[in-house]
Amino acid sequence: MEEIIDIATAFEICHSDTPEGDVIFHVTDQNSALLKKPGDMTVSETAGKAEVTIYAGDEKTQDRWRKTGGRIASWMKSHCPKSAAVDCGPANCRELLVGLFLGAYEFSKYKEAPKEVPGPLSVVMDKSEFDEVKIICNAQNMAREWAHEPASVINPWTLSDRAEFFAQVYGLNCTVLDDEQLQKMGAGAIVAVGQGSKTPSRMIILEYPGTKPGKPVVLVGKAITFDSGGLSLKTTTGMPDMKYDKSGAMAVFGILRAAAQLQLETPVTGVICAAENMPSDKAYRPDDILHSLSGKTIEIKSTDAEGRLVLADGLTYAQQNLDPRCIIDYATLTGACVVAFGHTRAGCMCTDDEMFNGLFASGEKTQERIWRLPSDEDYLERLKSSEADIKNSGGREGGACTAGMFLKSFINDGMPWAHMDIAGTAYNNDGSAYFVPGSTGFGVRLTIDWLKNL
Ligand code: BES
Ligand code: MN
Ligand code: ZN
Repeated sequence: MEEIIDIATAFEICHSDTPEGDVIFHVTDQNSALLKKPGDMTVSETAGKAEVTIYAGDEKTQDRWRKTGGRIASWMKSHCPKSAAVDCGPANCRELLVGLFLGAYEFSKYKEAPKEVPGPLSVVMDKSEFDEVKIICNAQNMAREWAHEPASVINPWTLSDRAEFFAQVYGLNCTVLDDEQLQKMGAGAIVAVGQGSKTPSRMIILEYPGTKPGKPVVLVGKAITFDSGGLSLKTTTGMPDMKYDKSGAMAVFGILRAAAQLQLETPVTGVICAAENMPSDKAYRPDDILHSLSGKTIEIKSTDAEGRLVLADGLTYAQQNLDPRCIIDYATLTGACVVAFGHTRAGCMCTDDEMFNGLFASGEKTQERIWRLPSDEDYLERLKSSEADIKNSGGREGGACTAGMFLKSFINDGMPWAHMDIAGTAYNNDGSAYFVPGSTGFGVRLTIDWLKNL
């Protein structure tokens, strides 16, 4: 089981007091005839040792250091030096290291091992800062690794086994509610979504007590281990990548891991809403009317609008049982959010301006950027049902906003709540300077930064 926690990067990244190795990377922000655009490199070789100068660009952003770290990581993977070191020069070492750790990750466990692998890369910088970045990025890389696992490996049951092991390793309290317990409790929405699968729904509660007693920040994660759409089946092209529909919950695991390892003051509780959305003779159907844990009934218009159903019960569970200081949910909730913001920003609906401003600032700082979604009552109008208290789909128009308003209708008045629609940011098949194509672990660095400032 240890291997599910210890996620190795393509090469080792370590701390050092002096830059030594077969390759020394020098970061510069000065352009020249050969260093014109960000990422340009010059290499000089003497006696088997190479000096690589890499241009970070002159843009006044922190992200250029992360991108530079990511480019160094790619170079390491393609050139495989026996040893290497980074001389940060004018760079912000902390952010460069983030780019190195995230850039060095790839999902490789099911591929034949490469014939040649890069040796270790050492970075000369403050040791305690190195250690902190390592914790946060390893947690984010674990979230990415888990998100990549196909549905044949991670289903609601195997996920709860993982969660129990994970909780032991990090000293968290773990409770798993199975579908029978959920049904008895009255959580008919999360149960319905999973009833078409041979591995029915689970709700997993993980508690990090914090070092300063108080009400917990509750993080609710969507863990649809595969979203086929259910009987409202997705198309051939719409279905691939739907293993990533558990990314919100994987971010919650990553955040809890980093919070525990950093021994953050604030208590943090994770509520993982796990289900596999499958069509079958047992599956829930369009026209079904569900009884949610809140007591509200929900008319099903589309079984593909399943994320909001599992989250509705998770959000209610949190408010009924966990006495939250505030709640954040993370979900690959709508294709509409991808259309609106692409892979650049997550949509965020929030009931509290101060909370939103804090999250927004952490997003700008970490480059896990968000943008506020409107929460006008008009959107809720579209979810009026003639047969039940609410319906689960308001159609295509304003899809990210109606989905958010659906969730908001399960939030008690006065509860600070933020909803992160990470459908566009959780994975990117084009990759970028410090992400290989696939899962990004979006949400981990943003939330840890926010929790640290709480
Ligand atoms: N998991 C999907 C949303 C999604 C789409 C995530 C693309 C990542 C990439 C979600 O469960 C879904 O199917 N939403 C529907 C809602 C609709 C039926 C109201 C959608 O976005 O089409
Ligand atoms: Mn769906
Ligand atoms: Zn989904």
